[in-house]
Amino acid sequence: MTYLRHAWYVAGFADELAPGQLLARTLLDEPLVFFRRPDGGVAALQDRCAHRFAPLSAGLLCDGGAAVQCPYHGLRFDATGACVHNPHGTGVIPRAARVKPCAVAQRDGLLWLWAGDAASADESLIPDLSAVTRAPEHATIRGYLPTACDYRLLADNILDLTHADFLHAGSLGSGAITRAQAQVVDLGERSVRVTWLSSGDQAPAAFDEHLREPGRPADQWTEVTWTAPCVMQLHVGATLQGEPRERGVDTCNLHLATPETAGRTHYWYWSTRNFAISAEANAAIRPVIEFAFTQQDKPMLESQQRRIGSAEFWSLRPVMLAGDAGAVRARRKLDALIAAEVAAAAP
Ligand code: FES
Ligand SMILES: [Fe+2]
Repeated sequence: MTYLRHAWYVAGFADELAPGQLLARTLLDEPLVFFRRPDGGVAALQDRCAHRFAPLSAGLLCDGGAAVQCPYHGLRFDATGACVHNPHGTGVIPRAARVKPCAVAQRDGLLWLWAGDAASADESLIPDLSAVTRAPEHATIRGYLPTACDYRLLADNILDLTHADFLHAGSLGSGAITRAQAQVVDLGERSVRVTWLSSGDQAPAAFDEHLREPGRPADQWTEVTWTAPCVMQLHVGATLQGEPRERGVDTCNLHLATPETAGRTHYWYWSTRNFAISAEANAAIRPVIEFAFTQQDKPMLESQQRRIGSAEFWSLRPVMLAGDAGAVRARRKLDALIAAEVAAAAP
């Protein structure tokens, strides 16, 4: 598969990578090993030794994080991919003993991988997702959900939230979003925002019960911002009809998808809210969210993928509905960005 290269992909939650640990993770068809350097910064190498191609992630992190030792014959590589120790013969380090380093970063509680040449990594392209990091722990629910589908189906899923009215009816959906008209705003070549606003419907159960007067008509908003390749920030909230948003309940959520391989996607979600802030409330809300994601979205995405098989999405001539405008715009933008890279790389 051809991936967008001049871009940052989420590689994990920052706290998935503890000091002293080697984290093996395949991203964009490439097995990588992540670790923390002695200064705590994050590093990643191709997870394949230069000697006989053993996975470095099965080895040891040495010297406080300064080098990774191959499990097979003990070559050591530093964070730049250079071999720094050869326990064999005279100890001379062969010139070819190098593994490919990756440009990585840590920002907003997330690990990021630059998919292009490390030398061209541009940290100004990491989207600002700091809003979720400001939420208190007891108003935060995060999770990791590997899903057997193409990563773009996950973007479709979040950019067309009318599915909440059907797939999540009774919990996250109340019918209002399907009746609302999606507004799509173009935010440049790498980003799109889709907004659904409604007034007069009762909010879905997950919001209604937290309004000052449950059961009354509400004003509701759902706003998703997609950034290429597959980073989505979502605000969903409700307030009593006619009242300012500040008097209602709001959530800020991240949906982060990174291809593992052509048919498998790493998916991280990070949900925060400005209401029901307590350990008890978190314990009550977590199963509702987890049920929707693990028992409804994930099985749907995987069964869509089984029906699609290896066919190219557009070749199946998908029918377009009113709610698809944002998702289609995002797919077109991603296709255009990838096509431009392919054209630029052609001889
Ligand atoms: S395979 Fe790594 S040192 Fe031999
Ligand atoms: Fe969903």
